[in-house]
Amino acid sequence: MTTTAVDPRVELAERIARLKQQRRAVILAHNYQLGEVQDIADFVGDSLELSRRATQVEADVIIFCGVMFMAETAKLLNPQRTVLIPDPLAGCPMCDMAPVEAVRKRKAELPGVPVVAYVNTTAAVKAEADICCTSANAVKIVNGLPDKRLLFLPDRNLGHWVQRHTDKEIILWDGYCPTHQRITARDVKRLKAEHPNAVVIVHPECTPDVIDLADEVLSTGQMLRWARESHAKEVIVGTEIGLIHRLRQENPEKTFYPISELTTCPNMKRITLEKVVWALEDMQYEVTVPADVAEKARRAIERMLEVV
Ligand code: 13P
Ligand code: SF4
Repeated sequence: MTTTAVDPRVELAERIARLKQQRRAVILAHNYQLGEVQDIADFVGDSLELSRRATQVEADVIIFCGVMFMAETAKLLNPQRTVLIPDPLAGCPMCDMAPVEAVRKRKAELPGVPVVAYVNTTAAVKAEADICCTSANAVKIVNGLPDKRLLFLPDRNLGHWVQRHTDKEIILWDGYCPTHQRITARDVKRLKAEHPNAVVIVHPECTPDVIDLADEVLSTGQMLRWARESHAKEVIVGTEIGLIHRLRQENPEKTFYPISELTTCPNMKRITLEKVVWALEDMQYEVTVPADVAEKARRAIERMLEVV
């Protein structure tokens, strides 16, 4: 007698759907999540879209499939709701490159200079900032400020990209994303030689020499929109590998070449279907932000959401 193997992901997805109803939970996922995690989410988006979506939640519980700073942002915007992250070790090394003590010290050296914090920061650092930004709105946020000089943290590459689009003086912080740092200009040139008709789109967390070779520099949400609207049939993509899942799903007639298969964010990949099940079953791991930090950090995020 032969038995047909059942894909364990189907069973896990069914369990998640049942538990989600019982718990009155909603699942938010970042574009870099594993494909199967994206597929069970109620909403998948970039950092800005997820922050916006977090302000519209009606469920009792938010399961946040992403990294800790994103789950913290969802908590800041939903102080009355329970926010759970399926793996509390899903951090962001770029965040860790801007410890709050070092940020306070730098601020003291730059009196009167406003601080623009990329959302890839801890809640404690957001509480030190005048306003937050994401990769989708950084240029607009900076240009919307009245000041001529500002401290931008923690991503030196995003800060460098913003500097190309403003007359203001951007004081950089020396942080970077180790995942996007792996994308090299040599890889881009090799792929361009292999696929001469392809358009190159890259994330602004890439290094300036990679950005110099790109046709478009876009956040992950902007990449998805661009891919839907563009006539390009072949696209070379410079960002975390998880985005390829949605790009291919939404544009089956187009071909997407990741610049490097090595471009994976190990922290994003810590979230699995099993861990989502356990999060719902055991109501773990709760994301909390101390009240005094939360109040100031929320202000910096809300200011960003008021602008764009
Ligand atoms: P976006 O989804 O906002 O483009 O951000 C990418 C990222 O690296 C988040 O950590
Ligand atoms: Fe942080 Fe980079 Fe991972 Fe985004 S892709 S969460 S910036 S390490």
